[in-house]
Amino acid sequence: MNILMVCLGNICRSPLAEGIMKTKVPVDYLVDSAGTISMHEGKHPDARAIETAARHGIDISKQRSRPLTAADFEKFDKIYCMDIDVMADVVSKARTEKQRQKVSLFLEVLGDHENAEVPDPYWGGPDEFEHVFQLLKMGCDKIAGQVLL
Ligand code: 4NP
Repeated sequence: MNILMVCLGNICRSPLAEGIMKTKVPVDYLVDSAGTISMHEGKHPDARAIETAARHGIDISKQRSRPLTAADFEKFDKIYCMDIDVMADVVSKARTEKQRQKVSLFLEVLGDHENAEVPDPYWGGPDEFEHVFQLLKMGCDKIAGQVLL
């Protein structure tokens, strides 16, 4: 099972989601993350995301931002998007119905369709990053439960 987490910049939310998800599935699962923009390509995650993960015993410091590619739609079985704008962008890049069906909104796994967006913490402080971490942890727990069945 190959799982891709996608946000806008691939420096805050999806690197955290990747780091958390990796702690929940066997090592032979491929878990990666990408962004819909390439502005931060090659950069490590935002320092606040690195610190938040580290507080929870997870090292995401070696990850590097990369943009989503056409190949991702073939390589990954599940593509989880952090918010509705990201999802719309990702869906617009899918070339077949099969590829489109791999794409979903990350927090929909929790069954709450009203609040299914992981808020962008980029303009926030440590509290926003911690809140995002907790949302991602809940979502990753649920996804792990589904894919490990
Ligand atoms: P992310 O956060 O999508 O969770 O990585 C952001 C990162 C960068 C920007 C916005 C959000 N930005 O505007 O550069």
